[in-house]
Amino acid sequence: MGKPHIGILTYRNGHRFQEPGYFRRLISEGQKLGATVFLFSHEDAFEQKRMIRGFYPSAKGGWENKLFPWPDVVIDRCRKGSPGYRQFRKKKLFLYANNTYTNKWNATRLFMQDDAVQRWMPHTVAYSPEHLKEMLKKYRLLYIKPGNGTGGRSILKLTRTVEGYTVLGRDNRLVKKTARFQTLPPLIRWLNRWVKTERIREGNFMIQQGLDLSLVPGRATDTRLLIQKNELGEWDITGLGIRIGGKNSSTSNLHGGGKAVPFESFMVQRFGPEKTKSILLECRELARQVVQTIERHFGPMMEFGLDIGIDVNGRIWLIEVNPKPGREIFKRIGRMDLYRRSIQRPLLYALYLLQASKRPPLNRENAG
Ligand SMILES: Nc1ncnc2c1ncn2[C@@H]1O[C@H](COP(=O)(O)OP(=O)(O)O)[C@@H](O)[C@H]1O
Ligand SMILES: [Mg+2]
Repeated sequence: MGKPHIGILTYRNGHRFQEPGYFRRLISEGQKLGATVFLFSHEDAFEQKRMIRGFYPSAKGGWENKLFPWPDVVIDRCRKGSPGYRQFRKKKLFLYANNTYTNKWNATRLFMQDDAVQRWMPHTVAYSPEHLKEMLKKYRLLYIKPGNGTGGRSILKLTRTVEGYTVLGRDNRLVKKTARFQTLPPLIRWLNRWVKTERIREGNFMIQQGLDLSLVPGRATDTRLLIQKNELGEWDITGLGIRIGGKNSSTSNLHGGGKAVPFESFMVQRFGPEKTKSILLECRELARQVVQTIERHFGPMMEFGLDIGIDVNGRIWLIEVNPKPGREIFKRIGRMDLYRRSIQRPLLYALYLLQASKRPPLNRENAG
């Protein structure tokens, strides 16, 4: 039997890829594990011939391509939901390591209704002027964000003050926006325009209870946790780190200028060793419950990056679950061991799946 072929389904613009650094690492780690790994997009599959135009790093930098056999297993890393990709993904052409997930709004609703997860969910409703008024009565701080956004784009932080309302956020190109209003009507007019101009495809906006995440005064601070399937097909937490947003930034996202620090030392400084231990345990519990809930609804998955808010009182909240998470956090906190493991794990899991798919079903009586 030849080498296993692992295809990475992604988006490409000509010969350009969205995450070239990550893909180079992924391909070289795959080679070390004895697999052939290549990139391809939905336009590169020749279904009749059962061949794929696959891309791999060239020695000179850049990418080369050639025809590869049909991959034994495919990891879906496409972060751009073009119509062509969506259609392609619906056809069950491969053994996929990860099923498709949903957007932030659907996921939030699912978690709010789930017995095991709802205790970590901030109160969230769909954006409408009526809902805004209700939420403003309940909370001094609100977040307004697209139900299908990423990377901190188009997110607003809305604060109710004695003088009125202040809005701080970023538009879809991450340009900072601020505004002040003394009364509700002009605020609502401004927000209505925002949700109209910042809307992504057919998506809606959501209004969420704002959490006080200023563990560092004046900065949004949250936790990024990476949970992945390992070489035995079991969920395991690869690691976690703290992201500290820039000054006058409503979000902590690294792309928006956030910086990263190790979880443990930061938390011990803020909450002491005992409380840190219990916070860590609760984050682990949260992550396990979340992946179980997701798999119950969407089938087997491979990895998730959880954005967890730990508020100034040490209470834990689930902010977001990313189905195609980055790994930068480990690099930024100097944990190259975790960075490497985070890249190996999907490959190891894909190889595990491939083996499992070839095994005959267990004969229970003889299985001991
Ligand atoms: N309800 C909230 N309360 C406080 N901060 C929030 C809230 N929602 C989002 N944030 C901040 O904004 C960041 C981005 O929000 P998130 O929902 O993860 O969107 P994205 O998909 O754009 O990353 C979070 O990491 C957090 O720093
Ligand atoms: Mg996020």
